[in-house]
Amino acid sequence: MMRASRLAPLAALASLAGCESSSQLPMTTLAPKSDLASEIHQLFLEVTAWDALIFLIVMVAFVLAVFVFSTRAGEAAPPSQASSDLTLEIAWTLGPALVLLMISIPTVRTIFRSQPRLAPMGSLEITVVAHQWWWEFDYPDGHKTANEMHIPTGQTIRLHLLSADIIHSFWVPQLGGKRDVVPGQVNQLTFIANVPGEYPGQCAEFCGLSHANMRLRVFVQTPRDFAMWDKAELAGPATPPANDQLAVQGAQYFATSPCTTCHTVEGVSKGYIGPNLTHFGSRTTLAAGVLKNDPADVAAWITAPQTIKPGAYMPALVLPGPKLKALVAYLENLK
Ligand code: CUA
Repeated sequence: MMRASRLAPLAALASLAGCESSSQLPMTTLAPKSDLASEIHQLFLEVTAWDALIFLIVMVAFVLAVFVFSTRAGEAAPPSQASSDLTLEIAWTLGPALVLLMISIPTVRTIFRSQPRLAPMGSLEITVVAHQWWWEFDYPDGHKTANEMHIPTGQTIRLHLLSADIIHSFWVPQLGGKRDVVPGQVNQLTFIANVPGEYPGQCAEFCGLSHANMRLRVFVQTPRDFAMWDKAELAGPATPPANDQLAVQGAQYFATSPCTTCHTVEGVSKGYIGPNLTHFGSRTTLAAGVLKNDPADVAAWITAPQTIKPGAYMPALVLPGPKLKALVAYLENLK
């Protein structure tokens, strides 16, 4: 009989599979939700159609060769083979060249269309900074957030992609194009999202121990909802209400805690190593989309980040229970 511990990975896999099937958030390129993703999808369909045609021609030739034009037992030997046939030689040189041409024309056209050199007029330009292993989003009006990017529908989004350390790759399948994020270089991604929703993304270039845990989410909102979110982000951090003793204590503790070395909370601390926490409580996830943002997971993350995200630069903070509870209450209050 299998021991329970041996079954654990299987159970984990099964629960993961359950997560995926019940999730409304598929990481798929087959359901495009932006102009760029639609163009790439269209290209995929075109190339697949050509592939299917070639497959059909090869299969017909194969079946004819095997079942129609082959020698059967008892039949006379085949006629002598010609040493060369110029027409055939030309045909099977030109054929593949033509196939490559049919595929390369739409591919090159899509590549050029997807990379305008300048930001189109009226673009919302967001700077994306990739870190091991999280994403920073800097908005043109001055606020910063992490791992969850909000954008409006119908407006051109121009992402300027920078890396703080090594090579990463920004990829939100339903919004289109994977784009490498290279240190010392600014790459661009330009698209218009057209359907409100929540779209998951993932770093797509191996970047160390927690590469798989370098996830992100894009919230595509109506222009009105986006403007409201943007306004709330521009405001300073929420102050804990006086009757929330726990959060008030947490605020006092945070102000003198080691957290302030790496994290910024506007008007409270200035740290640039970890994500900006000014509106931490308004995010749906933490640790680059690995955990959901609820008190139990926040506490787990603070006390043992390495077990959740191997290699993470966040040090574990060993705190007595009440202090940890207060700190979590303060962070969750930062809407
Ligand atoms: Cu960053 Cu993989």
